[in-house]
Order: sequence, then structure tokens, then C-alpha cells
Amino acid sequence: MISFVVGTQWGDEGKGKIVDLLSQKADFVVRFHGGNNAGHTVIVNGKKYPFHLIPSGILNKNSVGVIANGVIIDPAVLIEEINLLKKDGINLKNKLYISDHCHLILPYHKALDEAYENARGKNKLGTTKRGIGPAYADKVSYNGLRIYELVRWKTFEEKFAFQAKIKNKILKTFDVKPINIKKSLEELRNYRKTIIGYVTDTFNLFATAIKDKKSIVFEGAHGVMLDNDWSPYPFSTGSNVITGAINTGSGVNASLIEDVWGVVKAYTSRVGGGPLPTELKNGIGDYIRKKGNEFGTTTGRPRRIGWLDLEAVKFACKVTGVNKLAITKADILSGVDKINLCIGYLLKGKPISYTSCGYDELSKLKPIYKTFKGWSEELNTLSNFKQLPTACKEYFAFIEKFLGIPIKIISNGPAREAVLKS
Ligand code: GDP
Ligand code: IMO
Ligand code: MG
Repeated sequence: MISFVVGTQWGDEGKGKIVDLLSQKADFVVRFHGGNNAGHTVIVNGKKYPFHLIPSGILNKNSVGVIANGVIIDPAVLIEEINLLKKDGINLKNKLYISDHCHLILPYHKALDEAYENARGKNKLGTTKRGIGPAYADKVSYNGLRIYELVRWKTFEEKFAFQAKIKNKILKTFDVKPINIKKSLEELRNYRKTIIGYVTDTFNLFATAIKDKKSIVFEGAHGVMLDNDWSPYPFSTGSNVITGAINTGSGVNASLIEDVWGVVKAYTSRVGGGPLPTELKNGIGDYIRKKGNEFGTTTGRPRRIGWLDLEAVKFACKVTGVNKLAITKADILSGVDKINLCIGYLLKGKPISYTSCGYDELSKLKPIYKTFKGWSEELNTLSNFKQLPTACKEYFAFIEKFLGIPIKIISNGPAREAVLKS
């Protein structure tokens, strides 16, 4: 069984929690795109694990984590994450594998990300400043360095120095301090040995796993609304988020995927700039942000809040082939009097679809809302779907009908066990 867990919104839908849940019986759990701009939270036995690079299902005893070729790796972050898990008694030997095709996020990528953002001034995009855009740009322009080079240290030293000198010239044009090439190389050399210990041919690993009918969970790193092609570019991230990216990012034929789980947060959040059609810049938004603890897992930034945007989610489900829904954080909506659901867009009074909109249209359009009665009962004490307040059931039933996809998981709290039984 091969499945894929994808965020259907702007990220932070609760993918980490759902991946952990679906990995209980998985042999492999796989990251295939993005970098440590991802921040996926898993809470087990009261302990919070904020995963950035290591697959979120790794805490399950029998799941082996794989960081496949499409992921870009900041060596310092990877080492930190490995050490955190080790400190917790989680032995990663034969439990974590990394492709040597993975490109590296190097110190100059982070410096460039920051320099571009600062130079954009009031037009800044609000990136995570983790070097994502510059690292992917180097990948497609043949200037990237991979783990493959890290393994071959002499080659790495040469190529790194060549790239760093060019990047330092660019940084100089931004009036930014150049990176220290010697010091950076020393640091990278220290990380190198640990990383090499996890490197394997992940294409062959998957080929064997598929032949042996192993179960594999692919963990989407972000939300579809941040996909490099399918978002209102440039308010995007550097990678493709959609199902096809599994093929490029892992070598696994995407047509083998049976289940595509769309994670839908019961409302919307977004970090960084860019349009958010259903944004709530009022007390309800503040209430949800506070109750839902909507602050970035990676950067700590307050997340922007909005009503659930089904026009956008419908597109996300279509483009990724979602066939099962996992709903998260409806527990946060308890106490909201009336709940709006966006069921379409109007631009200058005329209907317009998500795909016909760029950032300009998305920031000007008016959402069409259907208003639902809220519920006051807290959901986090419930154990069964049947116990849900009628108003909440109606909200869910509408989502299922509008999207034409069944809700198969309802999460009612951050912890691993907070899931309603059907
Ligand atoms: P991800 O990036 O999609 O993995 O999501 P994040 O981990 O960045 O953000 C989701 C946050 O919501 C985390 O703090 C989770 O622990 C938490 N969470 C996940 N599902 C639920 C839920 O159903 N209810 C509540 N209250 N919190 C949840
Ligand atoms: P998870 O995995 C929310 C956003 C950034 C910014 C844009 C570009 O936790 O869902 P980047 O650093 O990728 O170049 O920034 O993308 N972004 C995310 N927002 N959750 C994420 O990941 C994100 N990853 C990137 O905030 O707007
Ligand atoms: Mg997150």
C-alpha cells in the first residue's frame, strides 16, 4: 500500500500528526520535497517533536524514515534533528536513510535568502529565510552541491569554494557580509561523517520495498497553495507539492499511489505574505489564532487566519487526486458563533475560479460565503464521531458533499491519540 499525505491549504494543516497516525503500520515514511521550511508537529506521550527534515512517522517503532532525492538538506539542521532524537533514546541506525542525490542548503543560500528578502523591503515575500529558494535555484541552474559531493570531500571543497566566491560577490552587491569560506568548510566537514552514515541508494530501496509489497507513506512538506506552479507565484515555495512531485522527488511511480489523504484544517492559516481571500483581520481571527496556537513551527511567526476556503481546497484535491480527507482542528472552532465557509469567488461581481487567479485577482476578489451555525461544546473531550454536536456534523457533511470526498479521519486535539472513532 502506498499513500500520500498532502496539505490542501497554505501549510500547517496538521500533516505531521496525520502522517504519524498513518505510519503506525507503515514500513517506510518518506519526505520527497522541500527542506527545513517545513515544520511538522507530532505529540507523543506529552512530548512535542517539531520535525523539519526527518519524516514525522519515524516515532512509530517499525517505520523507517527516508529522505529522498527531492529534499534539500541543511546539514546543520539535519544533525540537530538527529541528535535530538538520539537524546530521546531513538536509535536511527537502519531507521533513517538519505539519498545522495539530495541537494544541500549551504550557508550562502541562507545569506542570499535573507539578502533578497531585505532588499524587497515592503514587497518582501515572507520566506522562512531557510535558504529554500536560492538552493532550489542553484539546483536547476547546475550550481548546486549534493550529498554526492559531500561524500567526495576534495571535490566538495573545490566546488564549494567556487560557488561561495561567486555568492560572496552577489552578497557584496546587497551590502551583506560575505560568508567565511574556511569556517563554513570546517563546520560542514564536521557534519559530513554522521550524514554519510545514513546515505543509501533510495531508488533501489523503494524498488525492493515495492516488489516486497511494503507499505509506504509519502509525507507532503507543505500545502498545495504554496506549490511552485500552482500557487499565486511568487507567493510560493521553491518546490512542487503535488502528487507528481513524488515521481521526481523519490523515483517512485506516482501511479502506484492508492490513497491520497488531503489534510484539511477546519479553518485557514497562512504564514508570510501573499493573498489570503478569506482572511479574518478581526476578533474571530485573534480568537482562533490564540486558541489554535497558530504560531509558526519553524519561525514562530503569528499565522494569518481565515475561514475555510473550499474553492481553493477543491482545486488542491483535484490537482493531487485526493480520495480521502483528514479534518483537523475543528475543536478550535468551538465557541465561534457563526462559521463561514467560502464556496466560490467573485471578481467584479462575476464568478472566477482559483486557477484563473494570480495574486492580483486573489487579493481583490470577494469570497462567496455559506454561513453555518457554530457550536459551543468543546470537541477535545469526545471520543466518537457520533458524539459531535449537530452543527459540527452539518459543517463536515457540507465539506464532504462540496468536495465529493469522504472524511475518514477527524482529529480533535494535537496529541497522537486525539482522533475520533467512527
Ligand atoms: P503541519 O506543518 O501541517 O504538520 O502542521 P503544524 O505542526 O505546523 O501545525 C499544526 C499544529 O496543530 C500543531 O501544533 C499540531 O500539534 C496541532 N494540531 C494538529 N491537529 C490538531 C487538532 O485536531 N486539534 C488541535 N487543537 N491541534 C492540532
Ligand atoms: P509546513 O510543512 C507554512 C511559506 C513561507 C513563505 C513561502 C516561501 O509547516 O506546512 P520559503 O521559505 O519556502 O521560501 O517561503 O512559503 N512556507 C510555509 N508556510 N507552512 C510551511 O510548511 C511552509 N513552508 C513554506 O511562510 O510564505
Ligand atoms: Mg507546519
